[in-house]
Amino acid sequence: MDKTLLIIKPDAVKKNLSGKILKHISDAGFQIIGMKMMWLNKEQGGRFYEIHKGKDFYEWLVNFISSGPIVVACLKTPDAPPKLREVVGATDPKKAAPGTVRNLYGTSVGENVVHASAPDENPQREIDFFFTREELFTY
Ligand code: CDP
Ligand code: MG
Repeated sequence: MDKTLLIIKPDAVKKNLSGKILKHISDAGFQIIGMKMMWLNKEQGGRFYEIHKGKDFYEWLVNFISSGPIVVACLKTPDAPPKLREVVGATDPKKAAPGTVRNLYGTSVGENVVHASAPDENPQREIDFFFTREELFTY
């Protein structure tokens, strides 16, 4: 799998961190092959995060992801999903390795600035959630 999905979450967009985060990702070797800014409604947020349905943070998470604009990007590089998870760092910014995106910019386990597809949770499904084939540019 050479593609994965990145979401810059509403906390980061609000704090004007989109540019810094995209530079970080580009410097790590990812090519942006699709990108858009959008605002999900709760139904869309709930569907995107349906894998977490039933967990104690699900409702909070759906409200959070639909609380403001997000930037979604499809990224390409060899072994993209595990590589992006490494660059993004652990879910909890306090536990994320120094220099990772969440370590640098995250404020709490919930408001952790980005989503990155989990390698074992179907990254292609997440890419297809936001992008049609025609909206991805490879050359
Ligand atoms: O995003 P990641 O795959 O690292 O973590 P997850 O366990 O799949 O959880 C998805 C998202 O739910 C996280 O990125 C957090 O924003 C949020 N979350 C939370 O608010 N509280 C938790 N205890 C765990 C996750
Ligand atoms: Mg996850």
